[in-house]
Amino acid sequence: MNRNALDFHLAMRVLHWLMAAMVLIMLFLGVGMVSTTGPQYTALLALHRPVGVVVLLLVLIRVPLRLATGAPALPGDLPPLQKRIATVSHVLLYLSMIAMPLIGWAMLSAGGYSVQVLESLALPRILPHDLETYAVLRTAHTAVAMLLFALILAHLAAALMHGLIRRDGVLRSMTVGHRHVAGGDSQNKMRDVAGTIDESRG
Ligand code: HEM
Ligand code: HEM
Repeated sequence: MNRNALDFHLAMRVLHWLMAAMVLIMLFLGVGMVSTTGPQYTALLALHRPVGVVVLLLVLIRVPLRLATGAPALPGDLPPLQKRIATVSHVLLYLSMIAMPLIGWAMLSAGGYSVQVLESLALPRILPHDLETYAVLRTAHTAVAMLLFALILAHLAAALMHGLIRRDGVLRSMTVGHRHVAGGDSQNKMRDVAGTIDESRG
């Protein structure tokens, strides 16, 4: 496993892309579910629950790993407000990835449904049966999903801005890394402007 001051730890990069794919699939599975009353509903829900539980398990590994391995500093010439927005949006992404599966699990518990993950595995109910709580959590599941959609769109736009317009190595730090870039490469130089690791990003 390799990590240098310019890149996210390899395990963090693998988790990022695996979870990015899973979260996107979950959002579309959810929208697909509520858009159909046909037999596909059961099949989509049967997929939605276990994938959501895996997202929860992975984020529980990812957060301590992130705290242990840190993150590369953002380019030194990035305006402070943009750095602040990046940090806040990343925290919100992490919080949504934790909240969505927990709300899904809690809402099914409150609704009195069995939280069947696999045919032979049901999760314990984490809330007592209460329809008012179910209604609140059902609305929360939709609201946080909308927030997550918006965050991901902004996140994607920011990543493309770094990768295509600024070309400052931020996108590379979460993809192939800087290890194979020849010395003196402009992307390396841009991130070198950042100097030492920014303590606030861990
Ligand atoms: C990353 C995790 C998750 C994401 C991104 C996600 C996303 C969504 C979305 C977008 C919807 C449609 C909401 C709407 O339009 O009203 C939905 C519905 C739903 N989700 Fe999730 N979800 C996640 C985890 C879970 C988990 C772990 C469970 C259960 C254990 C769950 C159970 C449900 C149920 C029961 C519905 C509603 C179906 C209906 O009312 O017909 N979700 N989800
Ligand atoms: C859609 C394509 C995506 C691209 C191109 C992308 C790209 C990136 C890049 C370049 C970074 C590093 C930013 C930095 O150095 O500050 C990053 C960080 C991050 N991404 Fe993504 N991402 C994508 C999707 C997602 C999705 C779907 C999620 C989760 C819902 C996500 C969650 C995160 C989080 C939480 C971080 C912060 C990492 C940390 O500091 O611990 N990303 N992403």
